[in-house]
Amino acid sequence: MINPSLSHHEFGDANDTLFARIASDLREKGYSINPAALPETLGEKLYQHLGSMEQEKFDQAGIGRDRQLMQNTFVRRDEICWITGESDAGRAWLDWTNDMQVFLNRQLFLGLFSFESHFSHYAAGDFYKRHVDAFKGQDNRVLSVVVYLNHNWAPENGGELVLFKDKDDMEGVKVTPGFGTVLVFLSEEFPHEVRPTNRDRYSIAGWFRLNTSTTDRVDPPS
Ligand code: OGA
Ligand code: MN
Repeated sequence: MINPSLSHHEFGDANDTLFARIASDLREKGYSINPAALPETLGEKLYQHLGSMEQEKFDQAGIGRDRQLMQNTFVRRDEICWITGESDAGRAWLDWTNDMQVFLNRQLFLGLFSFESHFSHYAAGDFYKRHVDAFKGQDNRVLSVVVYLNHNWAPENGGELVLFKDKDDMEGVKVTPGFGTVLVFLSEEFPHEVRPTNRDRYSIAGWFRLNTSTTDRVDPPS
C-alpha cells in the first residue's frame, strides 16, 4: 500500500479536517468559507514574505481571458504578483494547494489538473467590482480559492468579499478578509465582488484548472 503520508508534506492531519470540510461544503452548496483555517506556519511564512516583497513586484491587475493586462481601473484597482514557487513561502503555498487538489480530486472527482495564483494588494480605496472568475464553456478554471493575510481586520475597514449565490442574487454572503480565512468556490457559479477597502488589504487568489491540452497547445502541469 502506498503510504498516505507521502502526499502530506509538512501539514498533515489538520489539513485533512479542513479539506474534508471544504469537500463536503462544495458538494452541498458549491462554496466553503473557513475563518482562521490556513495552517499557522504557512500563514506566517506568506505574511513574512509579503513584508519582504518590494512594492515594485506588484503590477496593476488586468482583466480578460488572455490576461494580456487589459487594464480597467473602473472594474478593479488591485495590484497583483503571480506566485511561481521561487521563494520558500511560494513553494510552501503551492505544496499546500497541491495537497488540496489531490484531496478534492479523490473525494469529488473534479479532475483538477493545474493551479495558478497571485498575491493581491488592495490599497485604501481599491475594490474589485462584481465578476465571475470563469465563463461557462470558455474557461478551464473550475475552482477558485482565496486566502486572506490581514491581521486585526475591523468591520469599519470594509474590504469584504461578497459572494453571490447566483446571477440574480443581489445580497450575497459577506466574507471578512481576516487572517487565515480560506474561501473556496466553483469558479463559474458564483459572482463576487470586493467592496472598497479602507486600509491595505492582502489576499492570495488562485484557480484550479482542468486539463484542456490540445495537439497544438499543451497546458502546463502546474
Ligand atoms: C479575484 C478575486 C478576491 C479577493 O482576484 O478574482 O475575486 O478577495 N479576489 O481578493
Ligand atoms: Mn474573482
